[in-house]
Amino acid sequence: MPTETQTDTAEAKRAARKATSEAVRKSAKKLHEVVKYPDPILMKKGELVTEFNDELAQFVEEMFDSMYAAQGIGLAAPQIAVSKQITVIDISFNERPEDKLVLINPVILEREGTLYEEEGCLSLPDINEKVKRAGWVKVRAQDVKGEFFEVEGEELLARALQHEIDHLHGVLFIDHLSRLKRDLIIRRIKKLQRNGDW
Ligand code: NI
Repeated sequence: MPTETQTDTAEAKRAARKATSEAVRKSAKKLHEVVKYPDPILMKKGELVTEFNDELAQFVEEMFDSMYAAQGIGLAAPQIAVSKQITVIDISFNERPEDKLVLINPVILEREGTLYEEEGCLSLPDINEKVKRAGWVKVRAQDVKGEFFEVEGEELLARALQHEIDHLHGVLFIDHLSRLKRDLIIRRIKKLQRNGDW
């Protein structure tokens, strides 16, 4: 059970995120709507990016704005209906500029260890389940200028990297669950859809 201090911190964090989200909503040039499961674009592999130009840099900024507006810490291009290998991550949610990551055409080179933590997804709102992931990953990707770089991540960053790179291959976190759990979630979503709540 969380102590009072922990609860206060979580509360303050939620409030800060909400404030950031609202500020971005007001200042953003363009926000993209996040598509939800079962939109077929989420199940499709994204195309490799071959042109690194101003248009791409602009699109990446729109992705960050759309991610903050939706109060997420990661967003993949297919989630805003653009089937390309682009993802943005910021596990600090606009607190630490150095945490802002843009990964274009990313590939996981190495993985180690295991994590089993709860995940959610902007394309599957209000659904949270524990997912088995590697505890550490090394990723190679290109930046907005097309330069190759490597990034290593553990804990939350490792999970975000794996979750977002999955999106670029048409894989959702529910695809990592047991058949039974996945079917239950899909049935729950279908019911929500029927009631107009999805
Ligand atoms: Ni997701």
